[in-house]
Amino acid sequence: MNGIDSSPIRKAFELARSIENPINLSIGQPHFPCPPNIIEAMNQAAKDGKTAYTLTGGIPELKEAMAKKYISGNGISYAHPDRILSTSGISSALFLLFNALVNPGDECLVVSPYFLMYPAMLKFYGAKLLTVDESFGPADLEKFKTNKIKLIIFSNPSNPTGKVLSKEQLHALANLAEATGAFLISDEIYELFDYDKKFYSIGKDYEKTITLTGFSKTYNMTGLRLATILAEKEVIQALTTLQQYTVVCAPSITQWAGIEALKTDMSSYIQDYKEKRDFVYDSLKDHYSLEKSGGAFYFFLKIPIQDEEFIKKAVEKKLILVPGYIFCESKNFVRLSFATEWDNLKRGMTALQELASRL
Ligand SMILES: Cc1ncc(COP(=O)(O)O)c(C=O)c1O
Repeated sequence: MNGIDSSPIRKAFELARSIENPINLSIGQPHFPCPPNIIEAMNQAAKDGKTAYTLTGGIPELKEAMAKKYISGNGISYAHPDRILSTSGISSALFLLFNALVNPGDECLVVSPYFLMYPAMLKFYGAKLLTVDESFGPADLEKFKTNKIKLIIFSNPSNPTGKVLSKEQLHALANLAEATGAFLISDEIYELFDYDKKFYSIGKDYEKTITLTGFSKTYNMTGLRLATILAEKEVIQALTTLQQYTVVCAPSITQWAGIEALKTDMSSYIQDYKEKRDFVYDSLKDHYSLEKSGGAFYFFLKIPIQDEEFIKKAVEKKLILVPGYIFCESKNFVRLSFATEWDNLKRGMTALQELASRL
């Protein structure tokens, strides 16, 4: 536990609370409300008395709906309810996976910048962290072929950069997994936030992929806790046994809400974020060196000074960001989230432009 530090995110929360009318661009969840039909389905499930433990692996109706979604939405033809486990958010899925798969000293490859839970959990289990930058090409993975890698993990689209990995990159990761016997974990929690239609599920081509699908971000269900894992049957069986003794099951009424969520059209929300993505890029491209985000709702902004110092200057303008060092080795980035109202975003861009002119 001593190796894990949760203070940077806590600090951002505390800062936001201490500033009057802050421009909070630090938040990692959508700003729109959970659609009312989903809430209604959850209420109905509660009224119908569906409040007991569910089967450990999840209610069959949700697993069936998810199998259909994987086949028609992700092109994963082999998806089947027997290969699916529903759990309490991707955070729980990661906890189960790392618990089941990782031993102390195991080498694990993480695409960097990374979601902060990956290295934290790997540290917790005493694993050794290897990283490869998200700009990698197939040749950059060659050097890992002689390593005894236990697992490879990435988020696609990425938190914190919004990068959508190319098909070529995904195939290279799958080839490395095949060559080393590593488990390949594709965290697809932001799959619908794909602004240029470039997202690809590697599970489509590589059957041993462990695909993680979350409801948190797509439908603003972060507090309702629901995700599914699609993997080979043996993996699902092991994780189900572990879930039985830990998480027990995903929240019952949330699972019923999940079935309704899958029927909900989120395209107008995604279109709003696409416009916000374009607005942020156009506002900042002449002031900072930045890659255009392709997905999720983040930009990873390169800054000319150290992140903590930049964050202090931003706070003077009421602007709250997350320091980049928690997502990668460098201290020259900050993460900004555009999952917010237009007014807030416009104020934020003005503050960032002013900051750039002073540096
Ligand atoms: C890449 C990524 N994976 C997983 C999670 C956790 O999601 P959940 O709410 O499903 O636990 C997050 C949340 O920020 C995330 O950004």
